[in-house]
Amino acid sequence: MSGGMEKIANTCLLDTLAGRPAQRRPAWIMRQAGRYLPEYRRVRSQFKNFLDFCRSPDEVAEVTIQPVDRLDVDAAILFSDILVLLPPMGVDVVFEEGRGPVVADPVRSFGRISAMPAGNLNAELEYVFEGIRRTKKNLGGRVPLIGFAGGPFTVASYMVEGGSSKELVHLKSLLFTAPKEFAVLLGKLAEVTGEYLCEQARNGANVLTIMDSWAGFLSPEDYRDKVFPHTAAIIARVKKEYPDLPVIHYANGAPALVDQFVRLGADGLGLDWRSDLGAVLQQYPDKIFQGNMDPCRLFGSPEAVTEKVKALLALVGDRPHVYNLGHGILPATPVESARAFIDAVHG
Ligand code: CP3
Repeated sequence: MSGGMEKIANTCLLDTLAGRPAQRRPAWIMRQAGRYLPEYRRVRSQFKNFLDFCRSPDEVAEVTIQPVDRLDVDAAILFSDILVLLPPMGVDVVFEEGRGPVVADPVRSFGRISAMPAGNLNAELEYVFEGIRRTKKNLGGRVPLIGFAGGPFTVASYMVEGGSSKELVHLKSLLFTAPKEFAVLLGKLAEVTGEYLCEQARNGANVLTIMDSWAGFLSPEDYRDKVFPHTAAIIARVKKEYPDLPVIHYANGAPALVDQFVRLGADGLGLDWRSDLGAVLQQYPDKIFQGNMDPCRLFGSPEAVTEKVKALLALVGDRPHVYNLGHGILPATPVESARAFIDAVHG
């Protein structure tokens, strides 16, 4: 499926990530298939269980394409979640209304970590690949499709903490008191994630994103020694098989780690609003970044959004850049403001 034969009408994201001149500035929005869209909520209401929704290829394709129709974004991102890897690795997760993901039996023992499967678990993720194939068919080559997985530190955080967490006390205790077991866990996650991303590419994903949202919880030294090698291994695995397939690495709240992210082997680096984009662009003249408007800016008027985007365009200038928010769009966001963001980027 991937390779030279495929025709994509809007290549501005692919061109930008390859450093080629683009037809227009590429823009998409993290979590663009989500609750701020009434048409998403309509499909969502057919499912009690979020993972059942993720396992339904027709509905996956439908909500993946909704923001392309509604916002004119330059890429679709597969509707799924970074936590779909947990069940194949032996960790049950449920998404509770108003609470987010909950792991009833979090990974807190060495026995659990050593018993965990590793390698290629793609057979249990066939529904994701089916969702990709269905989406590609229905998209008809209008825009590229972004596939994704969580970064190993972030996925481990949900396994070990049991859900979203303010301080990652359990995961970081594991890191500091049992560094060998921590390394085994991240090594297994890196293997599974590398194979999973390659299979997404094989089934038609045109761009891959690694979302290590919580990497910013680590000191630069701990990130360098304990996480960087695993994320770099995932990217190397993908690049070995798909050297021309662009990879975007995203982290939230990690301005002190940018000088390491530039060495991960990714083509694009997603930053949040805590990074001083102007300074980062100056410091790394040959790198391509993504971001980084504060999602709360979309609670301002469409005019205020347009003004802020103009400032961002002025900051970036002629540099290739992937326009996006610095983190996921929030459920209460007015659709007109999201549309104003995309329209202002396109000018
Ligand atoms: O549109 C897209 O971006 C594609 C789909 C997507 C979802 N989650 C759907 C989703 C993507 C790319 C993700 C990534 C994801 N999931 C991350 C990394 C990016 C980030 O936001 O930092 C993380 C940390 C998760 C884990 C996760 N999934 C949490 C913490 C939650 C609960 C919080 C919330 O927003 O509800 C989810 C649930 C989830 N994943 C929803 C969606 C649309 C909401 C659930 C619903 O609609 O009922």
